[in-house]
Amino acid sequence: MSRIMVTGGAGYVGSFIVRALLRTGHEPIVYDSLEEGHRSAVLDAQLVRGDLADRNGTYRCLRRYGIDSVIHMAAYCLVGESERAPLKYFQNNVSNGLNLLAAMLEAGVRVMVFSSSAAVYGEPSSVPIDEGTTPYPTNVYGETKLYYERILEKCRRAYGLRYVSLRYFNAAGADREGDMGEDHRQETHLIPLVLRAALNQKAILRVFGTDYPTPDGTCIRDYVHVEDLADAHILALEALQGGLRSTVYNLGNGTGYSVMEVINTARSITGKDIPWIRSERRPGDPAVLVASCERIKKDLGWRVRFPRLEEIIRTAWAWHSTHPNGYADR
Ligand code: UFG
Repeated sequence: MSRIMVTGGAGYVGSFIVRALLRTGHEPIVYDSLEEGHRSAVLDAQLVRGDLADRNGTYRCLRRYGIDSVIHMAAYCLVGESERAPLKYFQNNVSNGLNLLAAMLEAGVRVMVFSSSAAVYGEPSSVPIDEGTTPYPTNVYGETKLYYERILEKCRRAYGLRYVSLRYFNAAGADREGDMGEDHRQETHLIPLVLRAALNQKAILRVFGTDYPTPDGTCIRDYVHVEDLADAHILALEALQGGLRSTVYNLGNGTGYSVMEVINTARSITGKDIPWIRSERRPGDPAVLVASCERIKKDLGWRVRFPRLEEIIRTAWAWHSTHPNGYADR
């Protein structure tokens, strides 16, 4: 058994990782400020309310619980907001992340799985995107993730840190039974907004751009189920603990779906109309983002359990239709 600090473990992806850690016999300690996360998403895991801005508090938590590895999820993650408030993003995603690294090294903790993003790639020159593609972020959020990856690499060379950076494509879906799911205070993601429009016919969805060079004119994305993401974190963690060399992996489904395909699939699953209107392109949205995930499949034996968009949206609907106000209505 190992004791893992999960920063941001009360958030959407973090809470699924915590559950996967509990199920695989690890002991997660959730370190979360609850600024965005939800206490009830943490399940039976130990929750320490804390902030990475507080370096000493972070160090004390690492020591107190005898942590041996860290899964670092805590970050701001809204692309649009990152452009409007860059300092907020550099402060939290980079500067507070430096506090975590300093506290870890002082406490003798040298293993980290880091939640990175496909946003590091920016506008890709070809798809599918593999890890050999040169990163060139087109927004501040992606830059913060790339900077942190580079900091990890420097810490590997200088201090013997061992890490895996996982670059997620579009995290989506929920628990099959509808007990856990996506609940952001400020929702900007496509699938939750589509399902909200199904639940409340007055909430009209805006489709950002219908003139992209794709078969139906709308953007294509790679939606990967949150439980598949969680599995990958466990594999990466255990491989690092077993001696895996530091590296970077993409996490996606390998299949792209357009915004219209998401809307039409949601229509058939919910049996509801999804009212939508055409809107301007959203600045910085690439036409197509699809991952190649051969590296993690080959190295760690990762398997996608939810390859079909229909299954992903079905689980999301199980959550949203039973929790229209998210965790608040428990
Ligand atoms: N979209 C709409 N209307 C909406 C919301 C989204 O048409 O109201 C479209 C977007 O233009 C995009 C697609 O739906 O084409 C998916 O948008 P999301 O906002 O759900 O996700 P993104 O692809 O923008 O962002 C995701 C993650 C980011 C990450 C990025 C990587 O949420 O954290 O992938 O590029 F940075």
